[in-house]
Amino acid sequence: MNKIEKSVDVAVVGVGRMGRHHARTYKQMDAANLVAVVDHDIERAETVADEYGCKAYRTVEELMEKEPSLKAVSVAVPTVYHPETAKPLLKAGIACLVEKPLAGSVAEARGLAEFAEGCGTVLQVGHTERFNPAVRTVAAMDLTPRYIEVDRVSPMTFRSLDVGVVMDMMIHDLDIILMFAQSPIKKVDATGVSVLGEHEDVCSARIVFESGCVANLTASRLALKTERKLRVFSEEGYVSLNYASRSGIAVRSSQSNVNILSQVRQELSEGKDLSDLDYTEMINIEELDMEVPSGEEDPLTAQATAFLQAAINGHQPAVTALEGYAAVDAAERVVQAIKEHKWVGRDSSIISNEDINAAMRQTEEK
Ligand SMILES: NC(=O)c1ccc[n+]([C@@H]2O[C@H](COP(=O)([O-])OP(=O)(O)OC[C@H]3O[C@@H](n4cnc5c(N)ncnc54)[C@H](O)[C@@H]3O)[C@@H](O)[C@H]2O)c1
Repeated sequence: MNKIEKSVDVAVVGVGRMGRHHARTYKQMDAANLVAVVDHDIERAETVADEYGCKAYRTVEELMEKEPSLKAVSVAVPTVYHPETAKPLLKAGIACLVEKPLAGSVAEARGLAEFAEGCGTVLQVGHTERFNPAVRTVAAMDLTPRYIEVDRVSPMTFRSLDVGVVMDMMIHDLDIILMFAQSPIKKVDATGVSVLGEHEDVCSARIVFESGCVANLTASRLALKTERKLRVFSEEGYVSLNYASRSGIAVRSSQSNVNILSQVRQELSEGKDLSDLDYTEMINIEELDMEVPSGEEDPLTAQATAFLQAAINGHQPAVTALEGYAAVDAAERVVQAIKEHKWVGRDSSIISNEDINAAMRQTEEK
């Protein structure tokens, strides 16, 4: 990414859990001049404004009226309010970085993407994981994936319970596998369990792409530990990433690995006993270099830098509204597949996901 030469007037709308990070990020960047924060909860807005030395407003209308030089805004209000918050800004030609998911439904996500397109204003979606150095390293390898496996599990935080684990957590990975697979989705199978409320807290999904690539995704917000792992089996080799520790390894289909494996195949076909061999010592395993350009180690800063560049130059943002829409579409298909999943009971009755969840809640109440 190129350095931004001049400073741009920016604001953050919604300074709850996520919006505060956007405000802090802009405050630390030379390329951004944080002029204001907006929150319906004006005390909250004033607290954040005091911390970062900017103005506080209660509404977007007030912001637009009082800050005519504004060029770019982060929208970090709850997802259901993304469209109504972003539209007046986009209409006024102010670039928007809208937090993920782009909207609460496929119809709204498509509507917002089309609205931004109609206004000719930049709309980037806050799929921050794209800027994780580990993900950027794998994306730069330009793999042709055949099978992808992703695990994203963590203990319950009691936040974002208004949506299920698919819209809350799995959507990060859906965006990433869509970027890697570069193919339309053909089929989705999924099962999920709701323990604490109406929405699923655990989900396992299997997505088959038109290209034949298959992705297995697991997301849980009821785990006993935090784990974020991605494995890609591709024509070019195998890659395993740990998002959280930003570490990873690759086993490339290099000539030396190919030679070793063909020798093993030959010896196995001759009936040799290879049980004393250590497979991991035979193949060439590379530690992946997660180096990113200086100043872009933090995903939120890298995301904001890409956004401001797009806002200034008017070019296509790093994560487009259409990609944000595709991730919401994939998430809705997973949620729908959970609803359609059926089990056969002990008495041969057909049990739906709702039946299982209702039974679990009854058991808990007893
Ligand atoms: N990228 C990520 O990893 C990540 C992580 C968490 C949340 N998010 C997303 O960020 C968004 C915000 O989530 P959060 O957890 O910060 O929510 P939050 O409830 O903590 O904060 C939302 C804030 O917006 C304010 N608000 C609500 N409606 C408003 C309006 N119309 N105008 C101005 N202010 C308004 C609320 O008063 C609150 O302060 C959601 O879309 C969520 O999905 C993204």
